[in-house]
Amino acid sequence: MSADEIANKTIHQDLFQALNFLPVRFVDLLFIDPPYNLTRNFGATSFKQMSAEEYAAWFSSWFPRLLSILKPTASIYICGDWRSSSVIQSVAGKHLVVQNRITWEREKGRGAKHNWKNCSEDIWFCTVSEDFYFNPDAVRLKRRVIAPYRDADGAPKDWEQTENGEFRLTCPSNLWTDLTVPFWSMPENTDHPTQKPEKLLAKVVLASSRNGDFVFDPFLGSGTTSVVAKKLGRRYCGVELDMNYCCLAEKRLAMAEDDTTIQGYSDGVFWERNTLAYQNETMRNGNADSNQMSLCLREGNGKCEK
Ligand SMILES: C[S@@+](CC[C@H](N)C(=O)[O-])C[C@H]1O[C@@H](n2cnc3c(N)ncnc32)[C@H](O)[C@@H]1O
Repeated sequence: MSADEIANKTIHQDLFQALNFLPVRFVDLLFIDPPYNLTRNFGATSFKQMSAEEYAAWFSSWFPRLLSILKPTASIYICGDWRSSSVIQSVAGKHLVVQNRITWEREKGRGAKHNWKNCSEDIWFCTVSEDFYFNPDAVRLKRRVIAPYRDADGAPKDWEQTENGEFRLTCPSNLWTDLTVPFWSMPENTDHPTQKPEKLLAKVVLASSRNGDFVFDPFLGSGTTSVVAKKLGRRYCGVELDMNYCCLAEKRLAMAEDDTTIQGYSDGVFWERNTLAYQNETMRNGNADSNQMSLCLREGNGKCEK
């Protein structure tokens, strides 16, 4: 297949089969969210927990085969939890330049009687070479200022006073605490058991790709990567084994024709959690389109009304 033939499509196939048909050197950004080393059902199929050595062997059976699809300037993000993270670092490190490890806080997590509740996941950020695109300005985080420090003239120091409160725009770090795992009342929520937040993908896509770049996801699930890529004006393609998940992805892509909002990202910045009221105020004051505004009001169930 050529890149044009698979652009903006969802491929319903086993990745091991699809790999035989993918073009070479067409991907600018590769987002990989594979089954973690846990026993879990994904629609009609399931993944069984295995030893770390077996998981490393499974990972190594497909990962090196993806390298040929990457442009020499491509960035690669690989998701894992504490169990699979060391395998990812070691296998990816053999083939790519490991640039960083992002850790993000999952608010949702099951309490355990004999262990610490698992509330974080990792995303390994790698590149093919040292020649890669990274735009930190596109992913700044807007935080409320707790202690608003002023300089000798009484002017805000490194923060801004707005009609809606006092905020600071902070540089993106490798610790993400502003994400919410999709839950029932969020429009992006589906029945997929391990759906990633659109806000998470938006950070990755905005930091590591340009408008029109090609974003690829070999384990597409409910389509989050493709949906966010589409909303942000990138080309995309994803592979998914389960037919129902492919349909969910296609439904979400169709909805993205009319609704390009990403919860938690508006006015060109990411907002920390629990700032919906402030975001709505900013939009009311004319910085965003009405589409975004109605979405936020719907999501807030009226709670954000002042
Ligand atoms: C962790 S989930 C991805 C979730 C996705 N990031 C989202 O936001 O919905 C992994 C997905 O990989 C799919 N999968 C597992 N083995 C596969 C294979 N060999 N080929 C293609 N997809 C596969 C599963 O069906 C599952 O939906």
